Amino acid sequence: MSAMVETAGTFGEAATRVFSGVQPTGHLTLGNYLGAVRQWVAREQHRADALFCVVDLHALTVDHDPARVRRLSRQAATLLLAAGLDPARCTVFVQSHVGEHTRLAYLMECTAGVGEMRRMVQYKEKAAREEAAGVRLSLLTYPALMAADILAYGTDEVPVGEDQAQHVELTRDLAERFNRRYGPVFVVPRATLPQVAARVMDLQDPRSKMGKSSAARNGGAGVIHLLDEADVVRRKVMRAVTDAGTDVVYDREARPGVANLLDVLAACQGDADPAGLAAAYGSYGTLKRDVADAVEEVLRPVRERHAELAADPGYVDGVLRAGAERARGLARPRVDAAYEAVGLLPVGA
Ligand code: AMP
Ligand code: TRP
Repeated sequence: MSAMVETAGTFGEAATRVFSGVQPTGHLTLGNYLGAVRQWVAREQHRADALFCVVDLHALTVDHDPARVRRLSRQAATLLLAAGLDPARCTVFVQSHVGEHTRLAYLMECTAGVGEMRRMVQYKEKAAREEAAGVRLSLLTYPALMAADILAYGTDEVPVGEDQAQHVELTRDLAERFNRRYGPVFVVPRATLPQVAARVMDLQDPRSKMGKSSAARNGGAGVIHLLDEADVVRRKVMRAVTDAGTDVVYDREARPGVANLLDVLAACQGDADPAGLAAAYGSYGTLKRDVADAVEEVLRPVRERHAELAADPGYVDGVLRAGAERARGLARPRVDAAYEAVGLLPVGA
């Protein structure tokens, strides 16, 4: 704790520093929005010095198509702005534009052990999926890069969905280990999860997370994308798998399909209590209709603003350029300090 305070003081920072990211591995989903982006927009950018990053280097950890990654990176950045991130209030940038991330990732690889990387749930899941294409070494070392993303900025809080909590926990371990070995360079960050919808489930398979790459399942019928048109959203919600029984009760274990719909509704209504909402419904049909309406209410303005911004790529480029410049300036001194602390000879010494 004293190391944290001392470290923050060393770099002259007062405001709470927030950092989070999204991978351009597919079209952003309702899970990304409700689990992460909506907090960034409604809360973080107003209360903290917040940085939000399109983590394109992470998208290279699995079999990828270069043109698609490029397109999705631009789309993700445009969607973050369309969802309401305001470049006057926060820093929006692309990971590969700031060299400090990979520079620090190497030191994180020298801090982490192979065993703790192999234990990551996301690694095990993705490695199983990637077996045919060949598992890239970067998929295993990915949490070292993610730790670098976070630690380079002296981040206090990392607003993410539940699936990322384990990676943030590992980041804490690495920060503490590094500080213990080499001196207090890093702030030890913590994950902050949303009250509701920290884990939005696939509408066709409510025991699995709604993810960008679950599009393969059922032709993506269980995944709502932020750019889905109103009729597509409605169809996906109305066809959502519900559970045996007909009464609407909130029980994530026994009734995961209905609980997921209630979570989505509650989150769209500004973190209402999902269990409380259940009482208002006598049938799955009326619940689904209200969910479809609520999701569409949330997505329509994002879709419309995205269309405007996509027509002005020069604006988005300008935001990303300025964002990268600020990020570089923030990260550089701490990454330099980390290089020096581990025993690397400073330039010009
Ligand atoms: P990713 O799509 O893995 O780049 O995730 C970007 C952010 O969205 C992270 O904070 C994730 O935890 C969050 N997220 C992704 N999928 C979901 C989901 N199904 N439910 C809640 N949060 C999610
Ligand atoms: N690993 C995160 C995900 O899959 C994305 C990410 C990369 C991230 N670096 C980060 C999130 C730093 C928060 C902070 O969602």
